[in-house]
Amino acid sequence: MDSILVTGNGPLHGQIPIAGAKNACLALMPVTLLSDEPLTLTNAPRLSDIKTMTMLLQSVGAEVTEMQDGKVIALTSHGLNSHTADYEIVRKMRASNLVLGPLLARMGKAVVSLPGGCAIGARPMDLHVEALEALGAQIELKDGYLHAEAPGGLKGAVHEMRFASVGATENVVMAATLAKGTTVLKNAAREPEIVDLVHCLRKMGAQIEGEGTSTITIEGVDRLHGATHQVVTDRIELGTYMLAPAICGGEVELLGGRLDLVGTFCEKLDAAGIDVQETPNGLKVSRRNDRVRAVDVTTEPFPGFPTDLQAQMMALLATADGVSVLEEKIFENRFMHAPELTRMGANIDVHGGTATVTGVERLKGAPVMATDLRASVSLILAGLAAEGETIVNRVYHLDRGYEHVEEKLQAVGAKIERIKSQ
Ligand code: EPZ
Repeated sequence: MDSILVTGNGPLHGQIPIAGAKNACLALMPVTLLSDEPLTLTNAPRLSDIKTMTMLLQSVGAEVTEMQDGKVIALTSHGLNSHTADYEIVRKMRASNLVLGPLLARMGKAVVSLPGGCAIGARPMDLHVEALEALGAQIELKDGYLHAEAPGGLKGAVHEMRFASVGATENVVMAATLAKGTTVLKNAAREPEIVDLVHCLRKMGAQIEGEGTSTITIEGVDRLHGATHQVVTDRIELGTYMLAPAICGGEVELLGGRLDLVGTFCEKLDAAGIDVQETPNGLKVSRRNDRVRAVDVTTEPFPGFPTDLQAQMMALLATADGVSVLEEKIFENRFMHAPELTRMGANIDVHGGTATVTGVERLKGAPVMATDLRASVSLILAGLAAEGETIVNRVYHLDRGYEHVEEKLQAVGAKIERIKSQ
């Protein structure tokens, strides 16, 4: 397994390009299952998770071709020859469950493995099941697989979700585009990735209103036609790299960055003493003083503070002047980066879903272990500002969600390199 070696090297200066959103692309790719006409996605990120989704779609008979070094993905589902999402693929990537809604809508049948738990939590699919059953699907759990059927097709319905689940919202919205009649989904998730998904579906002829709000209304249609769609900017990669000049000092411009994607996150940065300015090419970030101020953070569904930026924010607050309280309200076990940051000298006290971070002047480099995607990049951020060398092990997590992370950080002056495993 590769490792990443980071050496604290002072302030950063320059530009970092932000890629297309992993979590938008992973919802956009299964859309091909809803139509027999070509779907082309541009501005796609080059990530291992995208390759996993490609394999999954090909396993049910879709044709998926990557072009321009993976930035463009051409997808077509003329003849689907399977409706099963195999455990071997789904266990590696929970987002594989996003084929459930489209397969059900297109083929009237889907057999999708339950993803099983992952490092950050149990991550069940009860909200997906309840919502699709409201549309008339019959779903039962057998041998770890969800067996879903809608023999006479799905029917529109009014359904309120118990929690604003991102994935469940995406599955239902995709399925409802081909259902008979009108679906009103209440307490829907409002994430920008869902807005992007609806924009793509609308280009294909779907009748959808209310994306970005808690109530999404979908008027079923008989079929969807092909489209070309540009994947929205990755707000989590954006927020992650905004924290690099915040933790190291200097000034970095994030190319393609959009303020509307990171509103609440920027409010917290401002409170911590970080300057964010809009430029014609994106967002420019710098810190006002040598040390950031402590701030309290609670993760919430969009537009609240994103859970996917909690680990990275903890790295910043580990060096802040004062005590910060971080509450993780979305996942039950998303503080595994805390003991690793503690190995670097951070002072963090975790009790259940609350982490109390008492800032220290400077972290010290150390060998640390990545446990999940966002924890791994949190450790890199800490290493950028720490004294001495930090080795981050198990970086396969990193490659799931960040393309060319070393090159992007080297370009702004970071001392960072990948150490290939023997
Ligand atoms: C999406 O996961 C993202 N993944 C996650 O990003 C992100 O952390 C999460 O949304 C929350 O914003 C993709 O978009 C591919 P949820 P998803 O359904 O859809 C519980 C990353 O780092 N829940 O909103 O799985 C669940 O256990 C990843 O890029 C149920 O209880 O998230 C969790 O506690 C990590 N039952 C909470 O809801 C269900 O049926 C949020 O889950 C579904 C979810």
